[in-house]
Amino acid sequence: MAIPNSAEEANLNANANSDRAPLTTSESASGATPARTAVRTATARTPVRTAAVIPAAGRGVRLGPGAPKALRALNGTPMLIHAVRAMAVSRAVSLVVVVAPADGAAEVRNLLDEYPLADRTDVLVVPGGDTRQESVRLGLAALPADITAVLVHDAARPLVPVDTVDAVVAAVRAGAPAVVPALPVTDTVKQVEPRPAGEPEPVVGTPERARLRAVQTPQGFDRATLAEAHERVALEGDGATDDAGMVERLGVPVVLVPGHEEAFKVTRPLDLVLAEAVLARRRANDGF
Ligand code: CTP
Ligand code: MG
Repeated sequence: MAIPNSAEEANLNANANSDRAPLTTSESASGATPARTAVRTATARTPVRTAAVIPAAGRGVRLGPGAPKALRALNGTPMLIHAVRAMAVSRAVSLVVVVAPADGAAEVRNLLDEYPLADRTDVLVVPGGDTRQESVRLGLAALPADITAVLVHDAARPLVPVDTVDAVVAAVRAGAPAVVPALPVTDTVKQVEPRPAGEPEPVVGTPERARLRAVQTPQGFDRATLAEAHERVALEGDGATDDAGMVERLGVPVVLVPGHEEAFKVTRPLDLVLAEAVLARRRANDGF
């Protein structure tokens, strides 16, 4: 554990390191709400120093055969570079930690050196894990002690506008322990009993659409809160697809701020077409 830089942080670290049993999926599925843990607000500490962790270690199976998704090009520039720039362009972000494919950290380091950022932003590269949750955990472990707020941003959302990043940072700095950009869903969503591909699936429910939101990244957190979530919340199988969901399991409140349609996730081949169209529209509008 890093050396605490204040008595308060020492306390929080002591809390986070206590040997409570991890929360498991089955515990939360039982409907029991875990006791709310210590409230940690960004305002309790000054100055706030913010880092962005970018999980980029996925293969991109749904995108089809080819290089790891984060290294695929959008208009000639790797998706990861777009994502790193999207974080670095925010004045609040002083450090970016890129979580690279475990066998490709050196390649990613070289790539980042080819596309240098403005001086004020440092970039670290660490090898990732088998699941997104594990990759984020490894990225968090690489943060220096003086980082008090963390953004977690998918490399697969390369085009998030800076205003969205800044809105998330502002809400964390105003004291929210967990902040998520989100948009209302446009499709009606059905809950089903899953069946193998191709088989008709029985519908078990239709949540009221007006109460549903599709969440994006960057998600912003008080660092100690997110670190505790990654220490205590154990999920089976593929792990958590969303960090805020892990914080919810601690009983800590999560708030939403408006997301942006350009913060969509590149998942399937058609998303690459959309991303390149967004870049073309920006060039036409901005003149570069
Ligand atoms: N990710 C990661 N480590 C993993 C799996 C995913 O860092 N072991 C990252 C991805 O690189 C991506 C983000 O988590 O930036 C969101 O994941 P997703 O969109 O699912 O990307 P992939 O897992 O790469 O895609 P797929 O699920 O289609 O294989
Ligand atoms: Mg995935």
